[in-house]
Amino acid sequence: MGDVSLVDVSKQFTLRIDTGLHTVHALRNVNFTIRDGEIAVLIGPSGCGKTTALRVAMGLETASRGQVRVDGRQVHGCGHDRGMVFQHAELLPWLSALQNVMFGLEMKGMRGSALRDTAMRYLDLVGLKDSANRRPHQLSGGMKQRVGIARALAIDPEVLLMDEPFGALDAQTRESLQAELLDIHTTTGKTIVFVTHDLDEAVLLADRVIVMRDGAVQEIIDVPLPRPRGDLGVVRGMAEFAETRYRIWQALHQAPGAVH
Ligand SMILES: Nc1ncnc2c1ncn2[C@@H]1O[C@H](COP(=O)(O)OP(=O)(O)OP(=O)(O)O)[C@@H](O)[C@H]1O
Ligand SMILES: [Mg+2]
Repeated sequence: MGDVSLVDVSKQFTLRIDTGLHTVHALRNVNFTIRDGEIAVLIGPSGCGKTTALRVAMGLETASRGQVRVDGRQVHGCGHDRGMVFQHAELLPWLSALQNVMFGLEMKGMRGSALRDTAMRYLDLVGLKDSANRRPHQLSGGMKQRVGIARALAIDPEVLLMDEPFGALDAQTRESLQAELLDIHTTTGKTIVFVTHDLDEAVLLADRVIVMRDGAVQEIIDVPLPRPRGDLGVVRGMAEFAETRYRIWQALHQAPGAVH
């Protein structure tokens, strides 16, 4: 199992600036459950709380109010049941790709030959077996992101949280990583929460798209496309693809007063 819920989560940050203390309401009573094996996409304007929602779900930030639940259990702080992939892979520069993946496994307590074998298996899964000994500066942006994905998957989390993982990549690399992520999802059945600004990416990947605005969930939109998605070029040409994309666009462009 691997469902993850935010239950009535609010998060405030206090900022100290010239004019005194200011409260930022990054999340306001956010409620959603991402079901076991689902890919849910969070989308919304810059500053609407997507990263904060992910960081609270990961346990990197504490909610000011409300709960995070994994499989119905309330969780506090980080745990191996959740893994995160960041916009920039944030690899340790002095370690090879393989050692970066091994590092996460060591943190989990794995030792001996299983450590190397497991890390190699996940590098293979993301197509990097032949680059295992390269250090981060010897990898392209797309390869670094693949290492980040392998590192997060290797600890075998129930839930994978991905914050604009393909945002900094060129269009072609992005497309191939989208297809790879869908393959990995088909293979592993992981629950994935994925943040993006890209409407096409949202529709291609998601079972449901959660549209956020001003720290709140504005609308949750089902994506009526088959799983596995198959050829993404064909998917892009489907009427359901265009219709869903337009529905999300409309939700993003609704007048603020229309938020419910
Ligand atoms: N550590 C922090 N301290 C103070 N304010 C913060 C902090 N982190 C986020 N915020 C504020 O919380 C709000 C939500 O930020 P968040 O990073 O979650 O937005 P986002 O939807 O991920 O935006 P983007 O699309 O630009 O990545 C913003 O107003 C931001 O300035
Ligand atoms: Mg963000």
